Amino acid sequence: MALVAGLLLSDVSTTMSLGAVLLILVLYLLYSGTSSQKAQKEPPGPKPLPLLGNLLQMDLRRVHESLCDLSKKYGSVFTVYFGSKKVVVLAGYKTVKHALVNYADVFGGRDIPPLYHDLANGYGILWANGGNWKVMRRFALAALRDLGMGKRNSEEKIIEETHYLKDVFEKFEGKSFDTTHPVNVAISNIICAITFGNRFDYEDPKFKLMVNRGNENMKNAVSIPLQLYNMFPKIFPRTRNWKELVNNVDNTVNEMQQICNSLKETLNLSVSRGLIDSFFIRKALGENDVHFHEKNLLFTVSNLFIAGTDTTSTTLRWGLFFMAKYPLIQAKVQEEIDRVVGSRLPVMEDRKNLPYTDAVIHETQRLANIVPMSLPHITTCDIQFEGFFIKKGTSVIPLLTSVLKDENEWESPDKFNPAHFLDEDGHFVKSDAFMPFSAGRRVCLGESLAKMELFLFFTSLLQYFQFTPPPGVSEDQLDLTPSVGFTLNPSPHELCAVRRNRSP
Ligand code: HEM
Ligand SMILES: *[C@@H]1O[C@H](CO)[C@@H](O)[C@H](O)[C@H]1NC(C)=O
Repeated sequence: MALVAGLLLSDVSTTMSLGAVLLILVLYLLYSGTSSQKAQKEPPGPKPLPLLGNLLQMDLRRVHESLCDLSKKYGSVFTVYFGSKKVVVLAGYKTVKHALVNYADVFGGRDIPPLYHDLANGYGILWANGGNWKVMRRFALAALRDLGMGKRNSEEKIIEETHYLKDVFEKFEGKSFDTTHPVNVAISNIICAITFGNRFDYEDPKFKLMVNRGNENMKNAVSIPLQLYNMFPKIFPRTRNWKELVNNVDNTVNEMQQICNSLKETLNLSVSRGLIDSFFIRKALGENDVHFHEKNLLFTVSNLFIAGTDTTSTTLRWGLFFMAKYPLIQAKVQEEIDRVVGSRLPVMEDRKNLPYTDAVIHETQRLANIVPMSLPHITTCDIQFEGFFIKKGTSVIPLLTSVLKDENEWESPDKFNPAHFLDEDGHFVKSDAFMPFSAGRRVCLGESLAKMELFLFFTSLLQYFQFTPPPGVSEDQLDLTPSVGFTLNPSPHELCAVRRNRSP
């Protein structure tokens, strides 16, 4: 201000040149620009470089951790630039909940990165907004509910699958193996059962191809060239990776189309075998919303596979990994299962009588923190939030890591501690800051299904097997540092699944 006043005075006292007038004009505009920003204060943040934004201030392999560090300096609502893309980050339980739950509509849009726009064209649920999203989310939730998601029907399907998974584990005869593939196909089969109405044999070539392609797509989607394409779509062209991924997704969608066609041919209007049947039955009964069409169905089904397979199987693998690392905790889980369930198969009814086991599963989800930044949201209108102005159409990251490890909410945020979910008498207690499925309008659609899968797979595997590190590897050597992919995974490792004496 002093500088501006000084310039004005000196210029007024001399003859005004055109240059001076322009200079005053520019300064005036700059000044009025900053003053209007003061009235609408935007969230603070580190100073961005041109083009690169704050990329150099972040560890791109662990963005969620860099963002947690930045929140210590800039507070619970702050701005960062990924390249030239501006993003507002929400950190800590109070702020994330405040935004996603109390302002559910404002913070409930999905920011769709360019790659996902190319792949899905706004169809389905995951990478969709507006009518497409609303109609398909509502349909999927209703269909899953009717099919018994979180209830008896899916319970039976999951229990059936636990047998097949136990068989695969048992074939290793206690020798160490990588749990990734077997767990992945078992969990994938649950989504098959729920959408198509049937499971597949693990050796079925069609099924293998489908699972492998899914995994490949996910690996590809988070590869560096495609990350760069998402950040700088105008600068980084569509490379070979882009074409490969688009082709793969096209193939997947075509395959889904074939499965849909054959289900349609054998449809019986009075029996729904799965979510796809439910779609055609509803259509036959006269549902005629403009968004309720087959293309939207195909993308919805592939969303369920993408969102429901890797997440659940990664979490289950973290659970087994933690058990191998903490044998005393594993022993307590097994003691409880033996005492309460005995040698029959565990069912959902048992959960309320297995508080310690339930706490261990919750603690697994909390510490594993597999979707650390949730999925990107977008504001649907201008908002004044916690003292800051956020414009409509701003990308928002709900930093779930900062909730699941919030120092104000958890006694020992960085330690595997089942007591986070137990009271003094050993009863299970809920915690509001347990938010691995996010919250609000976009909360995970498969939450109750995932919880059921985790409980049934975890208890039946621990009832049957003792999990240990490979011979010659100590528990301390099991490294908790996650490897980053589509989700946060345990670093590559092998475990032994040793048959227990007391098991059925
Ligand atoms: C342990 C397992 C799982 C975890 C940790 C998990 C976590 C999440 C998270 C963090 C989101 C993003 C929410 C947001 O945008 O704020 C999400 C969305 C979603 N999840 Fe899950 N999920 C799991 C299992 C599943 C399963 C089994 C299914 C399928 C039945 C599923 C289907 C979806 C769908 C369709 C969405 C998109 C919702 C929308 O955009 O409206 N998830 N999940
Ligand atoms: C359709 O299912 C119902 C109920 O299970 C059965 O009674 C009926 O015979 C089936 N119709 C056809 C054409 O298969």
